[in-house]
Amino acid sequence: MSNIKGSIDTAGVLKVKALAKINLHLEVLGLRSDGFHELAMVMQSIDLSDRLEFKNNKGGDIKLTCDSQSLATDDDNLIIKAAQLLRSHSGQMNLGAVIHLQKNIPIGAGLAGGSSDGAATLVGLNNLWSLGLPYEDLEKLASELGSDVPFCLAGGTQLCFGRGERLEPLTRNDNSMAVLLVKDPLVSVSTPWAYNRCKEINGGKYLDSEHDFEYRRKTLRDAAWLREPCKKLPPPLYNDLQFVVAPEVPSVKRALTLLSDLPGAISVAMSGSGPSCFALYPDLESAKNIFESHQVDFREAGLDSWCCSLGFSGVMVE
Ligand code: C5P
Repeated sequence: MSNIKGSIDTAGVLKVKALAKINLHLEVLGLRSDGFHELAMVMQSIDLSDRLEFKNNKGGDIKLTCDSQSLATDDDNLIIKAAQLLRSHSGQMNLGAVIHLQKNIPIGAGLAGGSSDGAATLVGLNNLWSLGLPYEDLEKLASELGSDVPFCLAGGTQLCFGRGERLEPLTRNDNSMAVLLVKDPLVSVSTPWAYNRCKEINGGKYLDSEHDFEYRRKTLRDAAWLREPCKKLPPPLYNDLQFVVAPEVPSVKRALTLLSDLPGAISVAMSGSGPSCFALYPDLESAKNIFESHQVDFREAGLDSWCCSLGFSGVMVE
């Protein structure tokens, strides 16, 4: 469960942590009448996070600064969109904020960094502006912002259906697993492009009835690996977008090959629409050992790398 309430410090600053996610399962079921894809996923928070700081701005403007040069801080940024959406919802158009983002989650990576920042902004400004909106209201606004934003708000391990915004929390009895994550810093993948390619390639095989969608959802809900400890039944990892993206993005192919050759990994997959790929390890210690002993290999393959444990919460006020 997320910690969505907190207090402003003596300098008038409220700090919020926004976690990244990986997809343990991403199945594209079909097309919806709104043009989005109907999905059946298992999303998992990981302990890799952005940090946001919020301060009141009496002038009424919403301003964003970021420590990374590569991120646009204009109206297209989900942080600004979230702030504007929350302000409109409150009806108090005089509210303003100065927001600073410390960007640690790679951009355009399939790790929902932007979505998590959007979720963190809803939580941060709900506190800063003393709006007192209940979690359910924030969740509704989150789903308007983007398909992955409700998950980022809630975090942990969740079944995600619909566009990705329909959540069913899972209580795994084994949270010891860890992740070794790699990404080419020069490559990002556009999510609309990935889904569009999926439609072009697999559209002919899409399911097209609610009855068939529900059958697939039930199959995923009943999957034994969701209940068993990793040592007994490791997550098989599955991502329909990987089959579409890997053949066209060389760094994804390279990352998957490199990760598959590492010793001790349970399984390997791309996250979301890529290009980040990860290997799942039974515990943090074995992941760290491999992470440290293969730094040269990652560098030679042109890949940035991270080693992290799983995350058990969504957005956290610090
Ligand atoms: O919801 P979000 O803004 O993150 O989605 C970005 C894009 O990804 C959508 O505009 C759409 O092209 C694609 N998408 C999709 N089906 C989903 C989620 C996203 O086709 N369930």
